[in-house]
Amino acid sequence: MSINIGGLQLKNPVLTASGTFGYGLEFADFIDLSRLGGIIVKGTTLEPRQGNPPPRMAETPQGMLNCVGLQNKGVDYFCQNIYPQVRQLGTNVLVNVSGSTVEDYAACAARVAALDDIPAIELNISCPNVRQGGMAFGVTAQGAASVVRAVRAVYGRTLIVKLSPNVTDIAEIARAVEGEGADAVSLINTLMGMAIDAERMKPVLSIKTGGLSGPAVKPVALRMVWQVYEAVRIPVIGLGGITSATDAVEFILAGASAVEIGTANFIDPTVSMKVIDGIGQYLDRHGLASVGDLVGRAH
Ligand SMILES: Cc1cc2nc3c(=O)[nH]c(=O)nc-3n(C[C@H](O)[C@H](O)[C@H](O)COP(=O)(O)O)c2cc1C
Repeated sequence: MSINIGGLQLKNPVLTASGTFGYGLEFADFIDLSRLGGIIVKGTTLEPRQGNPPPRMAETPQGMLNCVGLQNKGVDYFCQNIYPQVRQLGTNVLVNVSGSTVEDYAACAARVAALDDIPAIELNISCPNVRQGGMAFGVTAQGAASVVRAVRAVYGRTLIVKLSPNVTDIAEIARAVEGEGADAVSLINTLMGMAIDAERMKPVLSIKTGGLSGPAVKPVALRMVWQVYEAVRIPVIGLGGITSATDAVEFILAGASAVEIGTANFIDPTVSMKVIDGIGQYLDRHGLASVGDLVGRAH
């Protein structure tokens, strides 16, 4: 079940997605966190952020919209208060780094680089719910490259870049970040959407638009993982709508070396364990020696 992602060794290919699993600690009553391949903590920025006002969630058919907007207490709070609690969970803890400017991203990544037990960061250049920065960097090859260049200069461990699906050609963005030294890419972040309350005759969400996630986005995510796998040589991490081991296997067959589970955690906090067990059973059933034998096999 083990797999290496650009220098990051995972005991199995299942991670939890940023923003849907807190700092992992919130799930400790439900699952054995040490069984996970990794935990990606909530989006972290240089300065504390309040996020957007409510309402910032809306349920949709087979999915949900959110406009949380990177609410977090800032990277220094993480280093002082959260890191001591998560550094010995027995799994890889990754920090999801976000910012408004290139300098913000680099300064935040440099702080995380000083933490010995954080083996990798996931650079979020794809958040659709903040006015400045976030997705703005992830929707052009040039913008994406500029953030990765600045972070690569200060961060020596595994650098995963999380891509936005809100683009015309995701393969082009993936190639640009690979060119700047990213060790892996993860995709997808949420798809821009909106909901309108017909009775109130108003948008449901406070900032009108939000990011769509959950099973509704899975076919889009799968297509993008397929395209990016063909475009780059670095490992791809796939996510978007995974709720079962079969979903995870489909992403791996499309080219993902590992997967992340997001919205499904809200429905079933034990889903990640079921996905890990189910991938193992799938390998046995098909007489495969390792997860690596499955990666990209549908091509
Ligand atoms: C409530 C919520 C908060 C999120 N916060 C973040 C975040 O802070 N950073 C990030 O990179 N992605 C964030 N995401 C996106 C997820 O990590 C994931 O990319 C997306 O939801 C698609 O996967 P899923 O369909 O399995 O949820 C968030 C998603 C949700 C639903």
